[in-house]
Amino acid sequence: MSRIIEIDPRTLLILVGVSGSGKSTLVRRFFPETAIVATDRCRALISDDESNQAVSGPAFELFYSIIDKRLALGRTTVADSTALRAEYRTALRELARKHNFAAIVLAFDVLEELANQRDRGRNRRVGSLVISRQTDAFRNSLPLLADEGMDAVYTLGPADLDALEISVRDITTGGDGPFDFIGDVHGCADELEELLKQLGYVNTAQLTYIHPEGRRVVFIGDITDRGPRSIEAFRIVLNMVAAGSALFTPGNHCNKLMRWLMGHNVHIGFGMETTIAEFDSLPTAEREEFRQQIIALVSKSPAYLMLDSGRVVACHAGIKEDMIGRQGKDVVSMCLYGDTTGETTAEGLPVRRDWAANYQGWRFIVYGHTPVRTPQIRNNTINIDQGCAFGGWLTAFRWPERTHMQVPAYRVYYNRHLPALGQDERFGPEALIPR
Ligand code: CTP
Ligand code: MG
Repeated sequence: MSRIIEIDPRTLLILVGVSGSGKSTLVRRFFPETAIVATDRCRALISDDESNQAVSGPAFELFYSIIDKRLALGRTTVADSTALRAEYRTALRELARKHNFAAIVLAFDVLEELANQRDRGRNRRVGSLVISRQTDAFRNSLPLLADEGMDAVYTLGPADLDALEISVRDITTGGDGPFDFIGDVHGCADELEELLKQLGYVNTAQLTYIHPEGRRVVFIGDITDRGPRSIEAFRIVLNMVAAGSALFTPGNHCNKLMRWLMGHNVHIGFGMETTIAEFDSLPTAEREEFRQQIIALVSKSPAYLMLDSGRVVACHAGIKEDMIGRQGKDVVSMCLYGDTTGETTAEGLPVRRDWAANYQGWRFIVYGHTPVRTPQIRNNTINIDQGCAFGGWLTAFRWPERTHMQVPAYRVYYNRHLPALGQDERFGPEALIPR
């Protein structure tokens, strides 16, 4: 069975593997020659000899310099070197970071004997001594890769080399509207279904809605936790995405749920306990199906969506202007958690900077994450989280109309046990009375 690795165009693919492990052979199947920046080619460009070890210094300078310039132009790039030392991988990861590219490692885990055999069969031979030393270095590197701050690490076995497919796709582009943006459902499926009906979506199957005029909902994350019907709220999202009547970009609660479903240790709080209770009461088969569907959707969804030819950007917590069109850990973190300072308040909430107050961009940004009493428009941004689960409203923002539609919470599902964040427009306990 073939394995498919999907990467965004703004990716620096970092190959890691011994000589003769098949790195160059594999990437040539998927990338044009110019996208593959190889250290042996750099040696040849300056000395006419691709195995000339005496020119390593300037060859590496050239290698990093070409990569740097390509990333500055936004070009997908493959760093084709052995990268068996952590410092080389760090240098490449830093280049990716500098240009807000994703840094993705492909580690070529092949047997030493196979590498030797392949080395013997080609013109440029490095010899078994070198391959043996490199194999030791590779074995030492393999367990370190996961903790080197890369965006993803794929370890490829010999079987993968022939069967693997790499697909370069801009997953952030969601096409043209019209759209209805809905965020922070937080388990309020009753209000969601009412809102969808008011927006003109027709219930075509259980927990499935389609708009007769082809409008699409853009869910901007945090579908579960706090409200009473988290699982069904996410089923609506899953079904609508499958039916083509919705797009989805995850929030911090989606990300945490995915990690929990993958068996990771996460803090169960801030309303997640309600979702877990619902999940635990599902029949086994349904539970497993839900688990797989959520992992597949959340892990494949982009941190933000560029819509209507980039005129509008949808994300859960916010995005800065220079992050739009880029990838990378800091972009993902901003989209999921907002512009956090790393500090926490006395109540244990992360301190967030007010990124929207400083946003200067021309693209309109739709976000949520921090509940505010009314849809808040500032500097070409709108916050559509009106705290439904806290007894506020569930809001849909319509594009290109730039109007909104709201359904009031049927009741207060979750009392915010933490005080409001101090600013007037933030959702405070006094606003928890259903309207
Ligand atoms: N090869 C092969 N079958 C594969 C992959 C590679 O027969 N599935 C052969 C290639 O044709 C080449 C040799 O094995 O002659 C080494 O592969 P290459 O891709 O050049 O290995 P690299 O990992 O790029 O080696 P280096 O680090 O030395 O560039
Ligand atoms: Mg090579």
